[in-house]
Amino acid sequence: MRLLHRHFIIGITGGIAAYKTCELVRRLQDEGATVQVIMTEAGTRFVSALTFQALSGRPVYSDPWTSPEGSGPANGMPHIDLSREADAILIAPASADFIAQLANGQTESLLATLCLAREIPLLVAPAMNRQMWQNPATQRNIAALREDGITILGPGRGDQACGEVGDGRLLEPEELLQHLVDRFGPQSSAPEAARFPNIRGILQGASIVMTAGPTFEPIDPVRGITNRSSGKMGFAIAQAAVLAGARVTLIAGPVHLPTPEGVARIDVQTAEQMHQTVMQCIQSTSAEIFIGVAAVADWRPETTQPGKIKKNSGSLQDIRWVENPDILAAVARLQPTPICVGFAAESGSLDDLRALLPAKRQRKQIPLLVGNIGAETFGEDTNQIMLCDDHGVTLLPPASKLELAHHLLTHIATLRHHST
Ligand code: CTP
Repeated sequence: MRLLHRHFIIGITGGIAAYKTCELVRRLQDEGATVQVIMTEAGTRFVSALTFQALSGRPVYSDPWTSPEGSGPANGMPHIDLSREADAILIAPASADFIAQLANGQTESLLATLCLAREIPLLVAPAMNRQMWQNPATQRNIAALREDGITILGPGRGDQACGEVGDGRLLEPEELLQHLVDRFGPQSSAPEAARFPNIRGILQGASIVMTAGPTFEPIDPVRGITNRSSGKMGFAIAQAAVLAGARVTLIAGPVHLPTPEGVARIDVQTAEQMHQTVMQCIQSTSAEIFIGVAAVADWRPETTQPGKIKKNSGSLQDIRWVENPDILAAVARLQPTPICVGFAAESGSLDDLRALLPAKRQRKQIPLLVGNIGAETFGEDTNQIMLCDDHGVTLLPPASKLELAHHLLTHIATLRHHST
């Protein structure tokens, strides 16, 4: 019973591999989960809705225009209601055509609409002929889904229904089940999990807006001012926050990192864009928590030159610098005030850091400020951080950024608990 109390939406699109999903639906229930099956019209051509209805014990839906009974409040919006109670949506099999729809945000079926309107993780298990899988169009679409934080499971390799051999097989029911257990079951038994505090669900339902990475302030079309932040710490926190059950909006400066699963990401370049986007997102998501991990440039050129500044023109020295808005301070002044967490990337020693954090936290008027030594951690997968709050300064041992993210979110969950 590794998935007790979990509820999944299983989406079935057109593909002969749909027969394997019958076994998956059965196995999920053996593990204690409940399953709501949604089929596309093409899916019903391979295995009948009646089969899945009998296996799942629930009506199967495929028509976007009829409101499913008992699927939530009768607001005429089945595409939203059906996913409200679920922990995740798994599309298995996902056809090439359905993947293209997802990549383009199309809503040609109830299932596609449900995916577009979801707030929960989406997992996609492709199944198709090997040439369709290798086609650049499919690969482009798969890359787009990954970029959007959607998990791609498989495909596997082997004999195909069309008689060919290659990549494109739907993963076996046991493999799909294992993935769901790893992600939604009791804490993974992987050795490193023992060191990580169990954060699953500790921020359930919280809306978090956060920033990560550097900003880039253009001087002219070919130059600008930026810093060495890689975004890794912020992306690790975003990834962990999803596991903790939060809805995460990540506003990222220019970084080369994939979007963590389940995170809504907005890319920006400048501090001013980051400031505007943060303010809009805090309002539109009713954010309860703001985490400013970004290394925001303090200044920007007053104007961006329209043409490249030439070496002998001397005007690089004439640039006038203006101060950027302090995003964190602006959020901390909002009413109601989200729980604000700041990051200070400093130079010097840990003792220097310990000495300056309380005053900076005071100046920023925030409940929690995290300190680290910028030069030692920018671009690395590990870090050492200090937490500064009402109780003083605590140094955590050096660890991976993901492990530190787990500790930090545990701390934030405690703050949230005390603030309610
Ligand atoms: N920050 C921000 N907007 C800015 C500058 C900083 O939101 N324009 C946020 C950062 O995301 C971080 C925190 O403020 O969470 C601390 O950043 P830091 O650069 O250390 O703060 P400053 O006030 O600029 O202090 P310093 O004088 O040390 O640079």
